Amino acid sequence: MIFQVEERPTKNYKIMQEKIETSKISIGVVGLGLMGCSITTCLLMAGHKVVAIAPLPLDLLHAADRIGSHLTKSKEEGLIDLNPDHYFNNLTITEDYSQLNLCSLVIECTLEDVDIKKQVYSKIENVISPDAILTSNTSAIPISILQNLTSIPERFFGLHWAEPSHTTRFLEVICGEKSDITNGEFLYELSHYWGKEPTLVRKDIRGFITNRLMYAMYREACYLVENGYATVEDVDRACRNNPGYWMTLVGVFRWMDLTGVDAYHRVMKDLLPDLNNQKEIPKLIDDIVKAGGKGISNAKGFYNYTPEEAKLWEETFREFSYEIRKLALKYPADVVSKKLSSKE
Ligand SMILES: NC(=O)c1ccc[n+]([C@@H]2O[C@H](COP(=O)([O-])OP(=O)(O)OC[C@H]3O[C@@H](n4cnc5c(N)ncnc54)[C@H](O)[C@@H]3O)[C@@H](O)[C@H]2O)c1
Repeated sequence: MIFQVEERPTKNYKIMQEKIETSKISIGVVGLGLMGCSITTCLLMAGHKVVAIAPLPLDLLHAADRIGSHLTKSKEEGLIDLNPDHYFNNLTITEDYSQLNLCSLVIECTLEDVDIKKQVYSKIENVISPDAILTSNTSAIPISILQNLTSIPERFFGLHWAEPSHTTRFLEVICGEKSDITNGEFLYELSHYWGKEPTLVRKDIRGFITNRLMYAMYREACYLVENGYATVEDVDRACRNNPGYWMTLVGVFRWMDLTGVDAYHRVMKDLLPDLNNQKEIPKLIDDIVKAGGKGISNAKGFYNYTPEEAKLWEETFREFSYEIRKLALKYPADVVSKKLSSKE
C-alpha cells in the first residue's frame, strides 16, 4: 500500500533533512466530540486542510465553536501566529462523508464501540481512495480487531491521541497484525509536524502503552479506596505530588535510573505479589456509572460538583494544559544531549 502524496518519505527519510508540506495533505476527522474537535484543531494548526465529519447532527451544534475557542486560546498562548479565521478557511465541517474523497488520511474518532466504528468504516471506505490511510483513535480496542472490519486492513492503524490534542505531545501510532509498517513509519514522521513526540507501537497489544500503564494505576487506586486504606482525595493527592512531580520530565525507566534501580529491584520482590490483580470492573467505579455518573460532564463522578465547580475544573484543566506544554517543551526527551552539544 502506497501513500500517494508528493512528499511521501522513503524508508530512510530524515525529518530534519526533507520537509513535508502539510498544506498538500488533506486529512479527514470523523466524529466531532471532545477529541475529534481538538484533533481537528491540531491538524489545522499544523497547516493541513481538514474535512471534519459530524456522524450525528448533535456534533454540528458545538463543533465550530469548540474548534474556534481552541484556536483563539492557542493564538493567545502563542502556539500559532495567525488569526483563527486563517485556519477556518482550511476547514470543512459537514455530515456528508463523500467530502472525504480527496483525503489522504482519515482519523476515526467516534464512540468506543466496535459496531459503531464498523458502520463508520464502511461509510468512509465507500468514498476514500484505496491509497488513503485509515486510522482510529480507539483507546483500547486492538487494532488487529478493527482492521479486520475494513476492506483494506493493510492501510489501517491506530492513532492514539491525548486530550487536548492540540497541546499534548503524546501520540501512539499502532500497527495491527496486517498493517503495512511503511505507512506506520510515515505517520510517525508526519506526526512530528503536528507537534508530537510520537511512539511507534510495532506490535499490537490491547491498551497499547499508556493505557496499560494507566489502567494498572486506576485499578490499584480503586482497590485502595474500596478497602479503606485511603480516600479518593488521599489517593489523588499522593498521585499529584509523587508521579505528578516528575512525569513530565522522565518516564518510568529513567525515573528508576535517577533514583536507584537496585532499590526498585528489592521492593518488587515483596510488593508485586501484593498488588491488586482483579479482572472485574472495580465496584467503586461500577456503582458510579450505574447511577448515571459521568464525571465533570454531568457533575457526578468520584467527586460531586456544583455546575459552577464543574465548569471551573474544565477551564482550569484547559489553562493547565498550555502551562504544562511550556514546561514539556523546555525539557524535551533529548534535553541532556542538547545540553551536551551546547557545551561543545
Ligand atoms: N476522551 C479522551 O480523553 C480519549 C482519549 C484517547 C482516546 N479516546 C477515544 O476517542 C474516541 C472518541 O472519544 P471522545 O472522548 O471524543 O468521545 P465523545 O463522546 O466526545 O464523542 C463521540 C463521537 O462519537 C459519535 N457517535 C456517537 N454515536 C454514534 C453513532 N451511533 N454513529 C456514529 N458516530 C457516533 C458522536 O457523534 C461523537 O462525534 C473513542 O474511541 C475514545 O475511546 C478518547
